[in-house]
Amino acid sequence: MMLDLTPPKEILDPIEIASRDEIAALQLERLKWSLRHAYDNAPVYRAKFDAAGVHPDDLTSLTDLARFPFTTKQDLRDAYPFGMFAVPRDRIARIHASSGTTGKPTVVGYTQGDVDRWADIVARSIRASGGRQGDIAHVAYGYGLFTGGLGAHYGAEKLGCTVVPVSGGMTERQVTLITDFRPDIIMVTPSYMLSILDAFRAQGIDPRESSLKVGIFGAEPWTNAMRLEIEAAFDMHAVDIYGLSEVMGPGVAQECVETKDGLHIWEDHFYPEVIDPETGEVLPDGEMGELVFTTLTKEGLPVVRYRTRDLTRLHPGTARSMRRMEKITGRSDDMMILRGVNVFPTQIEEQVLKCAGLAPHFQIELRSEGRMDTMIVHAEATATHAAPEARAAAGRDLAEHIKSVIGVTATVEVHEPSGVARSEGKARRVVDNREPG
Ligand code: DLL
Repeated sequence: MMLDLTPPKEILDPIEIASRDEIAALQLERLKWSLRHAYDNAPVYRAKFDAAGVHPDDLTSLTDLARFPFTTKQDLRDAYPFGMFAVPRDRIARIHASSGTTGKPTVVGYTQGDVDRWADIVARSIRASGGRQGDIAHVAYGYGLFTGGLGAHYGAEKLGCTVVPVSGGMTERQVTLITDFRPDIIMVTPSYMLSILDAFRAQGIDPRESSLKVGIFGAEPWTNAMRLEIEAAFDMHAVDIYGLSEVMGPGVAQECVETKDGLHIWEDHFYPEVIDPETGEVLPDGEMGELVFTTLTKEGLPVVRYRTRDLTRLHPGTARSMRRMEKITGRSDDMMILRGVNVFPTQIEEQVLKCAGLAPHFQIELRSEGRMDTMIVHAEATATHAAPEARAAAGRDLAEHIKSVIGVTATVEVHEPSGVARSEGKARRVVDNREPG
């Protein structure tokens, strides 16, 4: 049911609705501490600051941060496994790591204080999503080195929820547990939610009759069109949660259920900047660029100006005083260039969801044709459009939409129902079959 889940102001952390001046004052104080902590305790930062000719004492205002060097995923890889920790190893209470599709994973470490603060911030995120003490939270993010499962878990416990730690996979059982335990909240990647939706339908259970009030979806890009699709299918709210392991994990930013207008960055712990990815210059709020974070309270692994490669823009706060980031368009790594036109998988998602007869599942394949890159969109027919003629018509429809809205020519293959690979976590949207070189 689409209930009004707006949290009353009294249950918010006071800083969530503090004035911008109060927030900025807290940020400056914490930023000074964080730069000093990184410089004094992590040799990698000392070397980087020294090489750039800057010292923590040079920061007297928030804008001075622009003088400090960036940190990248490569810095973490070079320091594998524990080289960037800023506390002795025996003060690290928890390790997580990113899967790292290529090369070594990036390893991150949290002190007990970091774990506690992380839980607080995720609890705040769940509350902003409409969750409350006493709710049942079904956590279907993967548990393990990935931060999704445990991050969500500790936050939900902290809020006072009854947590069901299901993790990803065994999709039919997800449906059984949702039906039997009657959770209020589900935390899962949006693409895996679609797999769960299929399983509801396959078992002949009406998803709109489920007990779910809100889904807290993140760990991968998804569009407002997908939000509407999921909200209609389950008759519940769908909100966006953002985070990355290098900065913390889920809960760096969270969309509020009452506005659903982008994600409030929890700026009392994470200081955002948006930069021009080419020049590294800081862009004014409102301009699209690469999101960069500096942690303000992290002990185990402080990050200074960490380049996320995620593309978005910053807007002023609405439901909370803290600034919002627009829903992520994509990662710079996922950008495809087709005959000079930049294309992100989220743009394809929007068009797929517009076409009658197509299921919300899709995958993009890149191939080379001579020296040109070509894009094949693998889409899937719904049960009502499974016949060859209906599939062909849906495919033509999608190709036309892609051409007229995005401006690129794509080959569309519409597969039979269940013909596109399903996600159990982060969807793999792009399969690169281009010839190397
Ligand atoms: O995905 C942390 C997380 C877990 C966030 C559960 C939300 C929910 P990593 O595996 O380190 O951490 O991947 C981080 O995933 O830089 C983005 O590219 C992408 N990402 C995460 N959340 C969103 C989102 C987790 N809401 C990388 N929208 C990030 C778009 C997202 N992309």
